[in-house]
Amino acid sequence: MAETAPLGSSPDAPSLSRHVLAPDDAQKVQRLSQRACRELGDPHADDTLDALAALAGELPLNLRDFLHRERLAESPRGITVLSNLTVAEDVGPTPESWRSADTPKSRPDAFTALLLGSVLGDPIAWSAQQSGRVVTDVLPSPGMERSDVSASSAKELSWHTEDAFSPYRADWVGLLCLRNPHGVATTVSQLAAGELPEAVERVLREDRFILAPDPAHELDGRTEPDVPPIALLTGPPDAPTLRADRDFMRAVPGDDEAEAALKHLIGHLDGRLTDVVLRPGDMAFIDNTTFVHGRRSFQATYSPTERWLKRVNVVRDIRRTRPGRAGGSRRVLHSR
Ligand SMILES: [Fe+2]
Repeated sequence: MAETAPLGSSPDAPSLSRHVLAPDDAQKVQRLSQRACRELGDPHADDTLDALAALAGELPLNLRDFLHRERLAESPRGITVLSNLTVAEDVGPTPESWRSADTPKSRPDAFTALLLGSVLGDPIAWSAQQSGRVVTDVLPSPGMERSDVSASSAKELSWHTEDAFSPYRADWVGLLCLRNPHGVATTVSQLAAGELPEAVERVLREDRFILAPDPAHELDGRTEPDVPPIALLTGPPDAPTLRADRDFMRAVPGDDEAEAALKHLIGHLDGRLTDVVLRPGDMAFIDNTTFVHGRRSFQATYSPTERWLKRVNVVRDIRRTRPGRAGGSRRVLHSR
C-alpha cells in the first residue's frame, strides 16, 4: 500500500511517500536478505555489490515498482519511506561504537538496506568514513554526545546535505531503522523553489562558498583541505539542486554579499525543518539532491536497545563517481 502525505501545513510543504509492505512481502524481503548474506558474505565488497544489482530483481514486484517510480519522479518527493520491513529481533545489544556494529547478527539487515538501495542505484562508501564500509552504522557513542557527527545525542545534529563537500556525493541517503526506543526524530528540510529573493538566489548560484568535509570523515590531522569555492544552488530554477551543511559551510572570507545570502538560506531551511520519526522496520531514502537532513537531540542511555540505524549512500550512476574513487575500488570514494 502506497500513500503520499504532505510534511507540514503550508501549500508548498514537501511530501513523504510511504509504501507499507504486506506481511508476505516483508517475509520475502527478509528471506532474500538472509540468502544474500549466506551466499555473498561480505556486504562491503565490490563483487557483492555488483551481484546485488541483479539479486534485487527478486524483491517483490510492487516494492520495486514503488521505488522505481520514486526514482523517476520528475518533481522530487524528498523523502521515501518503506514501512513494515522485518528486521532481526535477535540482533544483539546495540553496540556503543560503529567499530563493533558490523555484527554477524545485523548483517542480514545490512543486506536489506543494500538490496533496497540497489533498486534506486549503486551503493558507495567513503575512504575515511567508518573504515570505508559501504553499510555504515548510526548509533550514539559515549563521549560523543556533543559532537557534530551522527554518534552525537545530547546535541542536535544540524541539517546537512550528506557529504556536501564532494561532487560525487550520494543521490539518496538510506536509513534502515533497527531500533528507536526514544522516538528520536530525523529532521528534513527543503528549499521552496521560487521563494528566495532573486538577488539571494543569484548569489547562491555563484562560486562564492566554501564547503569542507565534516568530521565524519576522519582525515589525518584534521587539516582542512584547500577546497575551491563552489555554488550552493545549481540546476533549473523550478527544481534546483541544493548542497549545504549548516555547520560546515561559509562564505568566501570578505564576501559580505555571499555572507548575507548564506544567512538568508540558513533561515529559510531552519524555518522549514520538519520531524520524521523512523520506527523499527522503516527504511527512509532521503533525496540528497534537494533535501537536507539532521537529527533532533536526545538523552542516550546506552541500553542494549539503544537507537540503531543502518545507513547506505546510493548514487544513480556509479560511473559518474569515477574521478572521485579511491584506489582500484569501484565503490569507495576519496574523502578529500
Ligand atoms: Fe547525514
